[in-house]
Amino acid sequence: MQRASQVDQFITERWLDEPAVDRGDLPPHDVSAPQGAMLELLARAVGARAILELGTLAGYSTLWLARALPPDGRLITIESDPRAAEIARRNLPENVKLIVAPALEALPGLSGPFDLIFIDAAKRSSAHCLHEVRNLARPGTLIVADNVIRGGALLDADSDDPSVRGVREFFEAVAAEPRLVATAIQTVGSKGYDGFALALVR
Ligand code: DHB
Ligand code: MG
Repeated sequence: MQRASQVDQFITERWLDEPAVDRGDLPPHDVSAPQGAMLELLARAVGARAILELGTLAGYSTLWLARALPPDGRLITIESDPRAAEIARRNLPENVKLIVAPALEALPGLSGPFDLIFIDAAKRSSAHCLHEVRNLARPGTLIVADNVIRGGALLDADSDDPSVRGVREFFEAVAAEPRLVATAIQTVGSKGYDGFALALVR
């Protein structure tokens, strides 16, 4: 999808001021620049003062989200891979709290509410993560979940890919939660064909 990548580049060159990150040798699983900017924009739109991110990787999306915060805002990001966390630590400012643990282990120890929650950890655990963050949300909390389309593999009911099974479970979990107003948007761009979910707690 070379054209779509070029369009991402076009948007980025004209409108965006990308945060600088050292990605080390981590996989290219960070969000694209336009998606990062969208996260900042959504955080600003909800007036976020407290943000929670599950899945830090090198901290690229974290840095976009951090831009939306007021000076006394708080941002907690959780990363299960110690190697990624070590790289992220170099990229993130002091006021971002990085927790190195699997999201499902770290979440019970947190106190909310958070105004925006970005779910971008291991896809096999997305539904469980959604369940666990319920206690950290309030009416008006915006939940964003990354990579819920996976090139359309979402449709494969018989898939044995744990990530596909995970996003399918995530769709069921959102459907079963009447407190959420939700949609999912398919995306193309430098990260291929994927998409994100938006869910607002009513
Ligand atoms: C994968 C994970 C991500 O968070 C992402 O943005 C893209 C791909 C993955 O695990 O395949
Ligand atoms: Mg992702």
